[in-house]
Amino acid sequence: AGLLPFEHEPYFPYADPAVAQAQRDAFRLVRERYVGRTFPLLLSGQEAQGEGTFEVRNPADTAEVVWHFQKATPAQLEQAVQNAKTAFESWRFSDPLQRASIFKRAAGLLRARRMELNAVMTLENGKNWIEADGEVAESVDHFEVFARETLRWAQGKPVSPMPDEHVTTVYEPLGVVAVISPWNYPSAIPLGMALGALAAGNTVVWKPASETPLSSYLLVELLFQAGLPRDVIQFVTGTDDVLGDPLVDHRDVRMIAFTGSKEIGCRISERAAKVQPGQRWLKRVIAEMGGKDPTIVLADADLDDAAAGIVAAAFGYSGQKCSACSRVIAEDSVYGALLEKVVARTRQLKVGLPEDNADLGPVIHGGSAKRIMEYVQGGKGRARLCCGGERASMEGREGGYVQPTIFADVEPHDPLFQEEIFGPVLAFTRAKDWQHAIDLANDSEYGLTAAFYSRDPAKIAEARKRIHVGNLYINRKCTGALSGTHAFGGYGMSGTNAKVGGPDYLFWFLQTKTVAQKY
Ligand code: NAD
Ligand code: ALA
Repeated sequence: AGLLPFEHEPYFPYADPAVAQAQRDAFRLVRERYVGRTFPLLLSGQEAQGEGTFEVRNPADTAEVVWHFQKATPAQLEQAVQNAKTAFESWRFSDPLQRASIFKRAAGLLRARRMELNAVMTLENGKNWIEADGEVAESVDHFEVFARETLRWAQGKPVSPMPDEHVTTVYEPLGVVAVISPWNYPSAIPLGMALGALAAGNTVVWKPASETPLSSYLLVELLFQAGLPRDVIQFVTGTDDVLGDPLVDHRDVRMIAFTGSKEIGCRISERAAKVQPGQRWLKRVIAEMGGKDPTIVLADADLDDAAAGIVAAAFGYSGQKCSACSRVIAEDSVYGALLEKVVARTRQLKVGLPEDNADLGPVIHGGSAKRIMEYVQGGKGRARLCCGGERASMEGREGGYVQPTIFADVEPHDPLFQEEIFGPVLAFTRAKDWQHAIDLANDSEYGLTAAFYSRDPAKIAEARKRIHVGNLYINRKCTGALSGTHAFGGYGMSGTNAKVGGPDYLFWFLQTKTVAQKY
């Protein structure tokens, strides 16, 4: 018998004062243990210094440098890829049960350190407790899910038998996988991609976003502690000129697993298509990219429920989720009432310090706040500003604080409707009827998530078929996918639709071998 079905990791009940105190204690521990430290590269588990270091700053107060990481050199990137290539020759034949056991152990180790990793994430990327906890809990789920997926895929698939031949279809790994991740999910996203690679028997060059490397570093350490051979992951940090194009272009990299912006995803896809001298395969790329996710509200919907879902999905983590609701498309007859409810709820939100678990914290850095405010200023001339529209100040702190902002009467051709802003900015657009609402929702190059609110079974059935996204949520918010349940990945320019956490994800990291043997 194999592993039992798992249950999703429950979130911490922070309303309980004792639990809240434990999270505060974890911040203290993290500050004592990690702040001011410089972390190494991990090349086959050996700590290495790069050529200089870079600072990681607390988005809540960018004057605070929390820790430092190495700038890997081109020679160290080469070493990382060669180490991973060599390690592949043994890891590819590792026992699937060994791999699954490592993931199970890692789940237990992470479970015991969740509050610590929550605090690390808050100090790196400004998530409040609830958002950080949701993500670290998802990382625990990933370990559990990938343990099961490792064993399931190792069984191969049945084929029609022949009288005189023994025929099998089995799945084999590819080689060295470059894992390149964004700052907004610094734990669950690189981990999901890395576990996909490792579960399948590949080795990994793990390149986290420079804003948030410690969340990744601690997971790599934890995997080693759980028994992963140390040459199976090469952990490299540094600048994009050294670790971006050169890693993607490297002839010994077999696959690139990327999550991040459309711009970089497209660049990787193009560059990886070029066969380098000596390269013996066509590189495989999975690229999960941006979103411009709509919530569609029909006249028969529960408007309070819809408003609650919209506000949570639009302003959770200050809208810095690929899955965030950034467009509301409402039927004419309820447009005004819904807008009023959403604005009223938004006005209740408090902008503050993520370390104090404020509803909205800072955006990732000043450059991001500046870019968001350019959209907001432009929007003021073209649409109706209903709330927000300004930076927020946080006394004594430097940070990209932006008020949650709502624009009404946004036209479908407007940048506020079409472009990923990646901040707390929500656009309302009026639809003349419910079919028009679906057409408007689909008027986007992206297709990641959408929420649809209605009580009419026929309209819901139509929405299920016609809305062009990878993750469609009916009568609930469009954020918060759970590993193992809501396989995650989009349509269109939202990416390759690899669907992390789903039943087909491992296939992306495998190749299929048919063996026919005469008896
Ligand atoms: P980004 O594209 O700027 O960076 C992502 C990673 O790519 C970083 O590690 C960066 O160092 C690296 N990179 C930069 N240049 C590179 C190059 N030339 N070659 C290879 N790698 C390179 O994205 P970001 O700002 O970190 O993240 C935000 C974006 O990620 C948003 O667009 C968001 O929607 C998207 N995102 C998508 C998903 C999803 O599942 N679809 C999930 C989270 C975030
Ligand atoms: N997986 C994250 C969500 O669903 C991005 O919100």
